Amino acid sequence: MSKLLLHGGKRLNGEIEISAAKNSYLPILAASVLCEEKIILHNYPCYTDTENMCEILKSLGAKIEKNNDNLVIDASSLSEYSIESALAGQVRSSIFMLGALLGRFKKAKVAYPGGCEIGARPIDIHLSGFRRLGVKVEEKHGFILCDAKNMTSASLLLEFPSVGATESLMMASVLTSGQTKILNAAQEPEIVDLQNFLNKMGADVRGAGTSEIVINGVKKLHGCEFSPIKDRIIAGTYLIATAMCGGDVLIKGVNFHYLQAIVDKLDKTACLISHKNDKIRVISDGKPKAFGKIETAVYPGVPTDLQAQLMALATICEGSSMIVENVFESRFKHVPELIKMGADIHVKDRVSVVHGVKHLYGAPVTGLELRGTASLVLAGLVAEGYTIVSGVKHIDRGYHRIEEELSGLGADIRRIED
Ligand code: UD1
Repeated sequence: MSKLLLHGGKRLNGEIEISAAKNSYLPILAASVLCEEKIILHNYPCYTDTENMCEILKSLGAKIEKNNDNLVIDASSLSEYSIESALAGQVRSSIFMLGALLGRFKKAKVAYPGGCEIGARPIDIHLSGFRRLGVKVEEKHGFILCDAKNMTSASLLLEFPSVGATESLMMASVLTSGQTKILNAAQEPEIVDLQNFLNKMGADVRGAGTSEIVINGVKKLHGCEFSPIKDRIIAGTYLIATAMCGGDVLIKGVNFHYLQAIVDKLDKTACLISHKNDKIRVISDGKPKAFGKIETAVYPGVPTDLQAQLMALATICEGSSMIVENVFESRFKHVPELIKMGADIHVKDRVSVVHGVKHLYGAPVTGLELRGTASLVLAGLVAEGYTIVSGVKHIDRGYHRIEEELSGLGADIRRIED
């Protein structure tokens, strides 16, 4: 089993090119089965989640080749519309396959999805949207069975702007005749990316990035080449890492505006952040001030996927910070581990209060989910002495060899095998 061994105290300096976004790649991979021609996706990132999603596509009969950084997907001979639990349990995004398979075959059978343990993560908004589109949905023996032979267009008002539900419903309706509207849609940049990909295949989708998405059904989609956007959460993680460690880092490839909410908070910690085109430069003296209060929210608010990393930062800031987790109900699993390293954190329900300490101390700690494990790595970068982070399989779901990227910036971090 892999672990990460860190010796804290190094400043970060240099440049880093950010990989493609996991949360764009996953729905785009699912959507590629809507089309019977070849799809070429650029800058394929080898995260465990994207690898597992490729396995799901292969299990359905798609042919996938890796050609340098490109992924070539040929779903012309797709024969299956059923995903077993061993595969679906590996990655929560298997739920996207429901929408995509309904579009392609008008039927789908998918085992309940897996993914990070950050709360109940129900799928009721996905399923009630399908039902509004006329899909017969049954939940039996751990599977969701959908029959879409009577699927029609409809106007769908989401009870909450769920990212996954917005994407599932976009995929289900692109090949359904008539006009479907998704109201109170999620507005994340990855939704815009999915719209751009669907349109590149010949779909007619408008409005992504606003709360109303309009899909005019088309008869058929065609092959295309597409470059998914870069990962704003990885970029945000390295911005925060630099704020903590001190140094001067140029982060390349990510649209600055996607990170505005984070930059506004980091400004308060006394980092200097500037940007030009898709390059963001962060300079820090490594003595951050507390950022005050942060509440996670849907885009363009502070992303829940950066909450744990911001908490790692708060532990060493001068002063106290408050972090409110509004999106998921159980996303403070990193707190006991940060406390083991000397952090002063108090949690009640969805609110945590963090009093900054002068030093964290290295300790053996265990990550229990993706972003929480990233926060432990950040804490290890500044802790006195050695930190060993277990649970690395979680971080590998959404960062490709984080130890290589951070050591490229000067951190003392390496992967060790047990
Ligand atoms: C996506 C991201 C994840 C991010 C999250 C919020 C991907 C692959 N994952 O996850 O990294 O943390 O958005 O930005 O893109 N909910 C329901 N019923 C539903 C669906 C969701 O109650 O049917 C609730 C969830 O439990 C959660 C909230 O809505 O409390 C947000 O979930 P959602 O936006 O759907 O997140 P995901 O798509 O799972």
